[in-house]
Amino acid sequence: MKTADVLARAVATLKASPAIDHWQKDREEIEADDLLCFALGVDELDPQDDVPPGVVRRYQRMVERRATGEPVQLIKGFAVFRGLEILARSGVFVPRDSTEFLAEQAIRRLRRRRDPVAVDLACGGGTVGLAIADEVPAARVYGTDISAEAIRVARLNARRLGLSNATFLTGDLFGALPRRLRGAVDLVALHPPYVAKRELRELPEEIRRFEPAHTLTDHSANGLGLVGRAAAESGTWLKRGGWLLIEVSPDRARSVAKVMRDHGFHDVRSTVDTGFKVTRVLVGRWR
Ligand SMILES: C[S@@+](CC[C@H](N)C(=O)[O-])C[C@H]1O[C@@H](n2cnc3c(N)ncnc32)[C@H](O)[C@@H]1O
Repeated sequence: MKTADVLARAVATLKASPAIDHWQKDREEIEADDLLCFALGVDELDPQDDVPPGVVRRYQRMVERRATGEPVQLIKGFAVFRGLEILARSGVFVPRDSTEFLAEQAIRRLRRRRDPVAVDLACGGGTVGLAIADEVPAARVYGTDISAEAIRVARLNARRLGLSNATFLTGDLFGALPRRLRGAVDLVALHPPYVAKRELRELPEEIRRFEPAHTLTDHSANGLGLVGRAAAESGTWLKRGGWLLIEVSPDRARSVAKVMRDHGFHDVRSTVDTGFKVTRVLVGRWR
């Protein structure tokens, strides 16, 4: 079969799937392309090339998995995040392209500082912390997560990427950090669970079925319980003039800004990625 025909069939299957959140224009084309490149082990496709029958069968199985809502990153086993190959494993939050903006905002601020210390709170598989460790080699990065499985994957990612300036610890928010870091942290980045408990069932199936609940919600009524705790505790760890960065959905931005101001953060702003625009990153400076 020709590449163009294989792709057309896959796109039709993905478009018809009720389990996929069809929010992004051309999402099905992009994903069909991505999976076929992966199946063929190439970076680019030529529509006129023939696809070997064995690859067509393997590709169709991947497309069927995607049509059940399974994220592409889990099917491939990895995500590419700011150029890094980050392992994606079931049970650990799948890295999202939209979170690259949180990493970018953190990296910009850390590059201006000498030998900075950064904390990636609720780090999942280490995504943001690893990007910082890679792009700001002088930084010492600590990632923490309540999930031991997430920390296992984060450590594995750090080893595979050879990023020895990133340390990952299991614990509740700042609980696992060494006490000597109190007052010594330049920047805290947080992409928290922020979905209100009652909104969990309204999430697209591909998120509800494939992300563990503790990665999506802290079970508080407004979804901002963990954000409030992080804002309250960050002051103990940040240097004067240090930064707190929090990624949330646009509808939560105003509430999170208020939480940050109420806990003593200054210059609080909502920043938005010019590309995805699906999230906001709240930035605030400590005293
Ligand atoms: C939305 S995911 C973000 C993961 C990662 N930062 C990313 O962007 O790919 C939220 C993460 O918060 C973690 N988490 C939930 N409650 C926590 C807590 N009390 N302390 C630390 N981490 C927590 C979850 O295990 C999950 O990995």
